[in-house]
Amino acid sequence: MAVSDLIGSLPRAELHLHIEGSLEPEMMLALASRNGIANPYPSISKARAAYDFGSLQSFLDLYYRGMSVLQRTDDFHDLTAAYLAQAAADGITWAEIFFDPQGHIVRGIPLSTVIDGITSALRLSERTLGISTGLILCFLWHLPEDDASETLDQVLPYKDRIIGVGLDSSEMDHPPSKFKRVFDCARDEGFHLMAHAGEEGPPEYIWQALGDLGIERIDHGNRALEDEALVRRITTDGLALTVCPLSNLSLGVVDDLTSHPLKRMLDAGLKATINSDDPAYFGGYQGDNINRVAVALDLNDAELTQLLRNSLEASFAPEPWKTAALADFDDKAG
Ligand code: ADE
Ligand code: ZN
Repeated sequence: MAVSDLIGSLPRAELHLHIEGSLEPEMMLALASRNGIANPYPSISKARAAYDFGSLQSFLDLYYRGMSVLQRTDDFHDLTAAYLAQAAADGITWAEIFFDPQGHIVRGIPLSTVIDGITSALRLSERTLGISTGLILCFLWHLPEDDASETLDQVLPYKDRIIGVGLDSSEMDHPPSKFKRVFDCARDEGFHLMAHAGEEGPPEYIWQALGDLGIERIDHGNRALEDEALVRRITTDGLALTVCPLSNLSLGVVDDLTSHPLKRMLDAGLKATINSDDPAYFGGYQGDNINRVAVALDLNDAELTQLLRNSLEASFAPEPWKTAALADFDDKAG
């Protein structure tokens, strides 16, 4: 079956999407003028031309610059609504959405502005588009653990709107063990736990994220393949990897998509999923990621079906939703 027909015929989830990374240059410039603040770029084409990254840090510098236009509740609402409209049109039925509260608090934006804006769009889209969602807050690797702990305290009044806690930003030189205390608190509060690990950082960081932080899912995890014992541990525990092929290509994690480790991950028995990460910056939403990597790696129907099914199975959707979605999937997949 053609890749696009197979993708179009099966329900699927997106599990690794930074809402701030879905800020397209068109919206960035529109929000800058709506809020009467300086445009981060002189034009849309200049913004796109600047998106030429060789490393995670070179991307993060522009990612934080871009989010400066997000000022009011409506901005967070419009950003989230735009992503969800695209995701629903793309065929996604469940989306897990990361946001970076510390990236906004540090700019003087109240947490209520961020969370109210995002969650009003989540509620609206559930009603109008039929797409279901879970919201996940990420702590920033490069800030001290105390800052993450303060953020967790501030988020607790909104606990019923958030399903999980993750870690993102600059991975290198920030061992996960630094965040053990705040992850213990988040676990006690009942949040699902995950972390970006093994995107640029060594397998040792994935071991620490598993052992010290007790994560339930690994964001990226590419470098796990360098360590056979680690692969055995991840497969034995049945943890999923949220893999982001176009992100990996843009950030130089892989030289080209034909050398992407996704197929090797499947061959090793890892529960891989395909996601877009920061689609406005990396040139494609989830459907584009699936199409491009499927062609580059010549994935067969069984491999593609497995990847899509994994996305539902690895989701933190409520159990009844998940059971129904998997039954529907198996029905359609035949
Ligand atoms: N924040 C947004 N995208 C990220 C990525 N790919 N890695 C780490 N932090 C991020
Ligand atoms: Zn990410």
